[in-house]
Amino acid sequence: MLVSAAEMLKKAKAGHYAVGQFNINNLEWTKAVLTTAQECNSPVILGVSAGAGKYMAGFKVVADMVKAMIESLNITVPVAIHLDHGTYEDCYKCIKAGFSSIMFDGSHYPIEENIAKTQELVNVAHALGLSIEAEVGSIGGEEDGVVGMGECADPEECKKIADLGVDMLAAGIGNIHGKYPANWKGLSFETLDAVQQLTGEMPLVLHGGTGIPADMIQKAISLGVSKINVNTECQLSFTAATRAYIEAGKDLSGKGFDPRKVLAPGYEAIKATVKEKMELFGSVGKA
Ligand code: 13P
Repeated sequence: MLVSAAEMLKKAKAGHYAVGQFNINNLEWTKAVLTTAQECNSPVILGVSAGAGKYMAGFKVVADMVKAMIESLNITVPVAIHLDHGTYEDCYKCIKAGFSSIMFDGSHYPIEENIAKTQELVNVAHALGLSIEAEVGSIGGEEDGVVGMGECADPEECKKIADLGVDMLAAGIGNIHGKYPANWKGLSFETLDAVQQLTGEMPLVLHGGTGIPADMIQKAISLGVSKINVNTECQLSFTAATRAYIEAGKDLSGKGFDPRKVLAPGYEAIKATVKEKMELFGSVGKA
């Protein structure tokens, strides 16, 4: 069932668990995430970066594929298709393409400009029934060409953006996209606590979910995180399983070269990673 992310995140915040956002790259990825969500009876958010949208031949292709798959696989759990780290222009493209949720990442603008653009997009998104995520304080590292310094958000600025009526707020708390470096200092729970004190019921978003230890994830949820984004970890498990298949020479035996066979172990690996995260985030059985 395609829905906006608003209701599922309100429920998650009230129920002290988090909904996973899993970024998708192709048909296999989408099917793996959707079927796992259904098997786990969990709400889910499919994240689409601008780069992934381009790779899949455009945002409309992605939206139409997800909608058709929800119907043909009879997916009854709540599913949102969400633009990840959108520019102002990409937000409008995704609204037109039929997404149910967008993220406007205005974290690199001066706060006044971030506020003005976020406000406009909140009005447009809500008028059309979409949910919207905003960001304060950039997330570190690089994801599909979006580079951030990894700063900690100013809680007062978070409050200003939250008051615009966004449905979820990403605040930088020392989190990084991709693998964490060995000298990573960990999440700033002090910042997260201060943000949650000022923003109250607002579901907070933790980007860079790959590689954050389970105890930090649980603490973040206890401090108001209701959405956790995972991208790299599915890529790593998919690629490791594909590598094992090729290295075992399975593509050389019988019809092992058939792309549906080559991609099968990676597909199962994504499913296992998504299930593990849903269990850790506490969203299993919460559809
Ligand atoms: P990771 O790739 O580190 O899991 O981050 C995902 C993310 O935050 C998507 O916006």
